[in-house]
Amino acid sequence: DQDPRLHAIKTNIRVVPNFPKPGIMFQDITTLLLDPKAFKDTIDLFVERYKAKNISVVAGIEARGFIFGPPIALAIGAKFVPLRKPKKLPGKVISQEYTLEYGRDCLEMHVGAVEPGERALVVDDLIATGGTLCAAMDLLERVGAEVVECACVIELPELKGRDRLNGKPLYVLVEYL
Ligand code: PRP
Repeated sequence: DQDPRLHAIKTNIRVVPNFPKPGIMFQDITTLLLDPKAFKDTIDLFVERYKAKNISVVAGIEARGFIFGPPIALAIGAKFVPLRKPKKLPGKVISQEYTLEYGRDCLEMHVGAVEPGERALVVDDLIATGGTLCAAMDLLERVGAEVVECACVIELPELKGRDRLNGKPLYVLVEYL
């Protein structure tokens, strides 16, 4: 039986057809943020799952991982580390490229933000092909952290992104079929 809070979370996510390009069904979480109860329930569901897991760092992926990651980090007593698109971070960074449907992109993390042996949670709004989460996990593992789990609000299971995560557990609140 699913948690009764999930229904309102799902119904508050707006699906926008043909955005940002034709054929894409965009999962818009900004409408979820407009409902304080549903937004809080979203954060609480993650906090309940991760509060006793000894996580020292929440790594949030630009852009919408910056919305969900920080309240989770504060509630579980972990630090927050932003994983950013290229050339946004002012300090020394490590970079990880990844492939998109068309072309390549890159995530960067400040050197020294995460130390070897830290227990990390990776947070984003959505997993599609899984390439972005894969790059995020690579960054954390390259600096010696242990990725405990990846957490997203939404999964598009048809794209099989979960299969790209090399067996790393993925926790999602809602699936969009
Ligand atoms: C979306 C989403 C994830 C990523 C997932 O970001 O927020 O970060 O795509 O896709 P994947 O599983 O196929 O890698 P988007 O590309 O829209 O970038 P933005 O957050 O900077 O707008």
